[in-house]
Amino acid sequence: MHKKKNQPALPAAAAAAASEIVDECELPLIDLRPLILAGGSAEEREKCKTEMARASEEWGFFQVVNHGVSPEILDRMRREQVKAFKQPFDRKKEEDDSAIEQFATTVADLAQKLAGILAEKYLGRKSTFFQDNCAPSTCYLRMNRYPPCPMPPAAAVFGLMPHTDSDFLTILYQDDQVGGLQLVKDGKCFAVKPNPQALIVNIGDLFQAWSNGVYKSVEHRVVTNPHVERFSTAYFFCPSYDTEIESRCEPSIYRKFSFKEYRQQVQEDVGKLGRKVGLSRFTVNAIYS
Ligand code: OGA
Ligand code: NI
Repeated sequence: MHKKKNQPALPAAAAAAASEIVDECELPLIDLRPLILAGGSAEEREKCKTEMARASEEWGFFQVVNHGVSPEILDRMRREQVKAFKQPFDRKKEEDDSAIEQFATTVADLAQKLAGILAEKYLGRKSTFFQDNCAPSTCYLRMNRYPPCPMPPAAAVFGLMPHTDSDFLTILYQDDQVGGLQLVKDGKCFAVKPNPQALIVNIGDLFQAWSNGVYKSVEHRVVTNPHVERFSTAYFFCPSYDTEIESRCEPSIYRKFSFKEYRQQVQEDVGKLGRKVGLSRFTVNAIYS
């Protein structure tokens, strides 16, 4: 697992466009009890899997409860994160990492499980693709801190610019009180209401390609709160660099590409164009050269 601590930059341009009225939404809520705890019936498990697949198709986002990551693990993780951000930079290496490691290990299991279920629902059979290609060592954790940012007139401030995630799926542990995450659904922007018990799951670009566009990697962003800071932790479920992503479905929307190729293209685009172009570069009939 790689760890990154970033304090999202707030360039002046980030204080842009978020001025439209944004409705609040509740993400599809999926109770994982039948899958995580013993004792669920086959029927209950199947219903849960179907809900997950449907949410991934319609929203690209859902929230899960009874996910098996205990409140203690979540609390310790967040306390450690807050502490880490408060420490002067040169002290950071000395921090006690066990809370963060424990969180990462538990969430890694959950990510593996959810990805396996979504693969099975898409293919109609079980697949070992994710076990074979996504090990904890190729996944990473990002701890975000969004400082409060007073709103300039008629605009909200982006703590994280609109983007899609470049992974298979992301598990997000967001602040249980302070909202700010917004996502696009049917061309409209919605603010995600925090649910203290839930973890948020979202589909990334690789899963969209792998499922030939069935599961959606949707654009999302974070708007900072004018008064209070917000913390979040994102676990990015990624394959090794040499993993080839292809849908094995005809006609395929995307050409086959390796994760390494994808990452390099994203970096190149961000460097040259100032933004990620993303999956549209990898369609069979790509308009970009
Ligand atoms: C991300 C992300 C959302 C959040 O890190 O990619 O979308 O709420 N984070 O911090
Ligand atoms: Ni994201």
